[in-house]
Amino acid sequence: MLGPLNHVGIAVPSIKEAVKPYRKLFGIKDITRTKALPAQGVRFAFVNLANAQIELIEPYGDNSPIEKFLAKNPKGGQHHVCFEVEDIYKAKAHMEKKGATILGEPRIGAHGTLVIFVHPKDFTGTLIELMETPKH
Ligand code: CO
Repeated sequence: MLGPLNHVGIAVPSIKEAVKPYRKLFGIKDITRTKALPAQGVRFAFVNLANAQIELIEPYGDNSPIEKFLAKNPKGGQHHVCFEVEDIYKAKAHMEKKGATILGEPRIGAHGTLVIFVHPKDFTGTLIELMETPKH
């Protein structure tokens, strides 16, 4: 059921600051504009790599789940890993059948397709995002 790695999510206090080393040290120019995802309490931008993306996320609005993460990791750090799946509802059913804990219901993610999150306790401490592969 598991498709390719889509992105690694990095929580940061400031996307504006966080893109700087990618530009300066790696010379990467292909970085998306920062957009808000109010339903998830984040703003995000993608650093486009040859085979995957780095998703930079910063808190947006009140009670952002990222605030809590940044309280523990003030300079930012690796927040989640995202893999693609064909069908989010099938993936959810599969994961639940295998005993994994899914956090909430499928919702629209940063790529405009449905995503779910799997509790870090099921992956020795790493939060896992599963997203439906975009159709285009
Ligand atoms: Co993500």
